[in-house]
This record gives sequence, structure tokens and C-alpha cells, in this order.
Amino acid sequence: MLKARVFCPAAGAFLPFFFGLAFARSVTILDPLSPFGLEVRRLFLIVLILAALIVVVVYGVLGWSVYRYRTQQEDFRLEHEASSLKGNERLEVIWTALPLLMVLFLFGVTVESLVNRVLPAGGYRVEVEARQYFWNFAYPEGFRTSNELVIPVGRRVDVVGTAADVLHAFWAPNLGPDVDLIPGQSTRTFLEAHRPGRYLGECNQLCGPGHARMLFRVVALPEAEYARFVRAAQAFKPAAATPLAQRGEILFRQSCAACHRVEGVSQGTVGPDLTLFGLRTTLGAGFLPNTRANLEAWIQNAPALKPGVRMPPFPNLTPQDLEALAAFLEGLKPRGLDFSTLPER
Ligand code: CUA
Repeated sequence: MLKARVFCPAAGAFLPFFFGLAFARSVTILDPLSPFGLEVRRLFLIVLILAALIVVVVYGVLGWSVYRYRTQQEDFRLEHEASSLKGNERLEVIWTALPLLMVLFLFGVTVESLVNRVLPAGGYRVEVEARQYFWNFAYPEGFRTSNELVIPVGRRVDVVGTAADVLHAFWAPNLGPDVDLIPGQSTRTFLEAHRPGRYLGECNQLCGPGHARMLFRVVALPEAEYARFVRAAQAFKPAAATPLAQRGEILFRQSCAACHRVEGVSQGTVGPDLTLFGLRTTLGAGFLPNTRANLEAWIQNAPALKPGVRMPPFPNLTPQDLEALAAFLEGLKPRGLDFSTLPER
């Protein structure tokens, strides 16, 4: 009985620690992929060391007193009982002042980090617009992408944005802090990637039935490759290369142009901008791999794949129509660029 009474609270105290270890394998702040992540890790380690010191001191004193004042002969007990009841002014001052100093210290390092390392604005600025349930990105060089944001490695990118309908939030957990995107207001966050790759991002505010499938990717390219991407995106003119794609373009103008924009082809704004669709590695705002089969299934019946999506089903498109549309869409990319080989992070 006694054993159980001691063991259970002890096990309970350590459970969060073991759960923490289990989760650390999938989501960890100890292996940062951005300067912001490094900053978070630095502050986390400072707090961890302080907390560990407190644990050592508190449990040390506790263990010592449990041992020192364990059941003794009656006269020993009486002798020590009196002194243990007396107040101690010096101790009171110490255990008030020490925690206060620690909190002030943590406040200090956090403010220092914010002012010197986190808040200063970069120079490169991309605009984001969130809608139920996708993302539009506008680059300073004048072109746009949807659902996949392309950035240069090693350069800080400010992301300034708003929402077109309801509250959303832009969050790429590996690359920077999240920010609410609010209708009628402009808010800002930033990203910076250490290594090339495709990074997962998500909407971080419950925004409707499609919220769970409102993801995005940040594609981080080495600086030289990014410059090549920018030049190619600026100069890009869609041109259907095959008879199949040409038929797809005709179908696109009939069925899709009212909602989607493709530079030089259509001007719709209800759905994502598809000008550089062929570069996309994902579909439906980042939740499906961009494969031919997924693309045809998405065009034919998007609501079956994503609840709340505003794109209607197209039950009248034949398999040949779907093939033609997919061929046209897959061709919407500058030659020589391919993001699908980048590592997923
Ligand atoms: Cu947009 Cu949740």
C-alpha cells in the first residue's frame, strides 16, 4: 500500500516527460531549420537549464529533509519540532527574490531576442491572400502562385497578408512564426529557410469545413536557382504544346476560366491562380500529391475530396476531356524547372 502511494505520484510526475520524448520524434524544436527556429531553441534551452537547476535544488532539499527528519526516537522528534515551526526571515526574502530575478532574467532574454533578432524587417516582401480554402501569393517581381510559396534559401522573406472572407492563419512551423490573416486588415510574419526543400505549412485558425485541408508548401530554392525561377516566372507565357493540351485549353476556357486565372488565358479570381500550375507538387491546397490520377479526380469531383470547397463537380466531363484538361494544366510551367525532386521537410 505504502509502495503504491509513493510510486503513483512519482510515475505521474514523469509521464509528461515520457510523452514528450515520444512526440519529440515527430515534432521537435531541437532540430531547427530556420534562424527563427534557432532562436526558439536558444530560449527553450535557457528555460530548460533554469528549470533543471530548480528541480535539482528543490528535490535535493526535499530528499535531504525526508532523510534527515525520518521517524526518530521520541526525544529527538520533540527537540526538532520546535525549531521547524519557527519562521525564517532570511529564507522568506531569498525564496521571494530568487524567482523574481529568474522571471526578470527570462523576460530580458526574450525581449532582447525579439528586438534584435526576430522583429527587424527584411527587404524581400511577398503578399499572401487567404480564402476558403486556398492561398494566393503575389511576388514583388509581378507574378503569382497559389498554394505553393517559392522563396530563396538564406534570405529573410516578409509575408504580408490578409484574408478575403473569414479569419485564417498562415503558419509554416519550420520556418517562422504564425500570423492571423484578418479580413480588412494587413498583418505580417516572416520566413527564412536554412536548407533547400519543400516545407509544410497550414492554416492555423478554424475557418470552415475545409480548414483541415487548407495546407500549403513553402518551396525553398538556393539563391541562384531562385533567381532562375523568378526570371522564368516573369517571362512565362502559357502555350499548349500538343493537340491534346490545345483541346484542354479550349475546355478550360469553357469550364474553368470564370473562376481561375491563367496569365494570358483567363482572369477568374474565385479560385486559385493556375498560371504556374505545372510547377505545383500538391493539389487542393496542399493535401494531395499532384499526380495525373489525383488531378483528374479533383477536376471531376472536388467536393468529394474536400468538404466545403467552392469548386463544383463536373459530372459531364468525359475521360478524354479530363485527360485533355490535365494535359493543359500540367503544361503550365516554364521549361527546365521541377520542384518535385526537392526533399520534403
Ligand atoms: Cu483557413 Cu483554417
